[in-house]
Amino acid sequence: KILIIDFGSQYTQLIARRVRELEVYCEIVPYFKEIDYTDLLGIILSGSPYSVNDTDAPKVHLETIVEKVPVLGVCYGAQYLAKHYGGKVENTDKREYGRAILDTTAGAESVLFKDVLDNSQVWMSHGDTITELPPKAKRIAGSKDVMNVCFEWKDKPVYGIQFHPEVYHSTEGKKILANFLFDVCKCKPEWTSEAFAEESEKQLREKIGDDKVILGLSGGVDSTVAAMLLHRAIGKNLTCIFVDNGLLRKDEFTTVLKDYEVLGLNVIGVDASDEFLENLKGITEPEAKRKAIGNTFIDVFDREAKKIEGATWLAQGTIYPDVIESQSVNGPSKTIKSHHNVGGLPDFMTLKVVEPLRILFKDEVRRVGRSIGLPENFIKRHPFPGPGLGIRILGEVNAENVRLLQEADAIYINGLIEEGLYDEVWQAGTILLPVQSVGVMGDERTYEKAVALRAVTSTDGMTADWCHLPYEFLAKVSNQIINQVRGINRVVYDISSKPPATIEWE
Ligand code: XMP
Repeated sequence: KILIIDFGSQYTQLIARRVRELEVYCEIVPYFKEIDYTDLLGIILSGSPYSVNDTDAPKVHLETIVEKVPVLGVCYGAQYLAKHYGGKVENTDKREYGRAILDTTAGAESVLFKDVLDNSQVWMSHGDTITELPPKAKRIAGSKDVMNVCFEWKDKPVYGIQFHPEVYHSTEGKKILANFLFDVCKCKPEWTSEAFAEESEKQLREKIGDDKVILGLSGGVDSTVAAMLLHRAIGKNLTCIFVDNGLLRKDEFTTVLKDYEVLGLNVIGVDASDEFLENLKGITEPEAKRKAIGNTFIDVFDREAKKIEGATWLAQGTIYPDVIESQSVNGPSKTIKSHHNVGGLPDFMTLKVVEPLRILFKDEVRRVGRSIGLPENFIKRHPFPGPGLGIRILGEVNAENVRLLQEADAIYINGLIEEGLYDEVWQAGTILLPVQSVGVMGDERTYEKAVALRAVTSTDGMTADWCHLPYEFLAKVSNQIINQVRGINRVVYDISSKPPATIEWE
């Protein structure tokens, strides 16, 4: 495997994704964690918001690292290697951000540039520049403005590159990473979805043995793939609990429950909608709503779990970004919305936790799902928040508001499916707004509620842009909602990106 040592760059996750796309397994570790060299074939040092000249710049024990495995320093990683071994890094007026052209004439024979086109576009993002290389390093590439863009050591497999090979705009970046992984580190492209599924089933069987496991299903792709892997590994010893919190999409509880039965999963469906609505009465503040929904879920789940005799494990669909977030260089990231940081059990639950997807990114979860034969309707389902429509109803959540939103949302989502737009959108949803406005229908004055439609494109939910859905489609949906859902007389479309907005309202 490959380790990526994280110095806090916004691109660190992207390096990991590229490496895994090349079918090599890698992990991200914060720079202050001890390194486990077992089965380690190479290390990549990430970028950082720090300058290597800052007094509190993050550091690692480079001597040990370069002694043990091949190293690739990216941006800060490269500057750190250069400075630590006697070179010079300065803040000159040669700041480079964005596009640059890579001139590899100086190092055309370097293994890093095998099959890499010369004069390719690379993406820079640095304020400091390596003005002098250490004695043991040889310059292998430059750009118009910067002399030392890439270097390699004369006596060891240590490389530094100033630009970001992991970003899409560095056109030959992936090839350069591949050369490092396959030619320098001698990795083999063995990290495939099939291999993961097989290996993880084996590990789950060993870990769990004949114990009983319970898992909370949500209808989403993560918990479903986790359940399927466990089902394949331990069969009938897995019991799944699917709670209807009354805040699911229209008819979702019954349709999804049926789909689960088709998959052969042993699922207990629990209709607790009244209990959730009761506990949400009178609450309008978003965080308080989330807490009420979260606490009710734990109550219901705990009650149901206790009915399953002899269960000693709780399985969760935690995925890698959740894990990285909770171990990030800057400490667990700030709680912006409380449910985002999943994981963690209430103290009174004494079950052991198993998380089969802990090392996967979302797109990898989908690929694993496909490789074990999960139907496309599960895999392509848009993300949906745990607290469901509860956070898409601004103001009080009550039965009438839920009904209104479910109806409007069903028209919108079915419309997207019918027009073939559903798969082009990363996530879509409808929000019930806490305003009423005057309308006119026939000769009647109406004074009713408004809904907002939201549709975004994204890859991971961290950043998102609003979808440019066709006007004709929006017009049709707006018409249908206002005509068919009594209580709604206005439809608006959200044209905000994230950041600065978020995907959900609330
Ligand atoms: P925001 O609104 O922060 O949402 O841009 C980013 C993504 O996270 C989803 N989301 C949640 N998912 N539990 C979840 O499982 C939650 O409490 C939750 N809140 C937001 C949101 O739907 C979007 O995909």
